[in-house]
Amino acid sequence: MSSIETNPAARTVASTQSEMTELILPNDTNVLGHLLGGRLMHFIDLTAAMAAYRHARTYVVTAAMDHIDFIRPVRLGDLVNLKSSVNRAFSTSMEVGVKVWAENTRTGELQHVASAYLVFVAVDKQGHRLKVPELLPETPNEHRRYADALLRREHREAEAARRKQEKLAHSAPKDAKA
Ligand SMILES: CC(C)(COP(=O)(O)OP(=O)(O)OC[C@H]1O[C@@H](n2cnc3c(N)ncnc32)[C@H](O)[C@@H]1OP(=O)(O)O)[C@@H](O)C(=O)NCCC(=O)NCCS
Repeated sequence: MSSIETNPAARTVASTQSEMTELILPNDTNVLGHLLGGRLMHFIDLTAAMAAYRHARTYVVTAAMDHIDFIRPVRLGDLVNLKSSVNRAFSTSMEVGVKVWAENTRTGELQHVASAYLVFVAVDKQGHRLKVPELLPETPNEHRRYADALLRREHREAEAARRKQEKLAHSAPKDAKA
């Protein structure tokens, strides 16, 4: 029986790659017969979590889902194909990229319909954060995504700091004197 080392120092991107396919049925669609955005976000979250689990090999929680582009609709009766992999691992968090294609079941034509980035944090059963292995990018595309993930993390942190400042400014008493 083969087993996977649970706490190696590093893992490859390839070892995190995950896929999911869903057939779009009436319950998944709006009145126009297009896949609901929230349903697609659920599929994206699940496919991303699979990659995060394969990297961390412990419990993971979604910390953030950002930058989703809904490029074109997925129609009733289409297959929706999702692919994910970890872009970069930090200390206890990982950024996962997900790409989504709609497949016309009669022609087999594939159309890129959405892309998203999510951040997962590794935790134990009590919710305490755990360190994750490093990620080893190998191909030129993996190196590009690895570098871009750091820029997105810096952008997220800057945005969180800006929101915090804004909240503080709005919560300060208006008639406070220095
Ligand atoms: C995500 C969570 C574990 C972060 O815990 P926290 O105590 O706020 O953690 P910290 O601020 O110390 O950050 C811990 C790590 O998470 C990352 N992180 C926290 N909030 C983040 C956010 N909004 N976006 C991106 N990364 C985030 C930090 O960058 C840090 O990463 P690092 O260890 O790799 O450097 C916590 O906020 C939580 O449990 N949220 C609810 C998760 C959930 O229920 N998800 C939906 C269902 S799965």
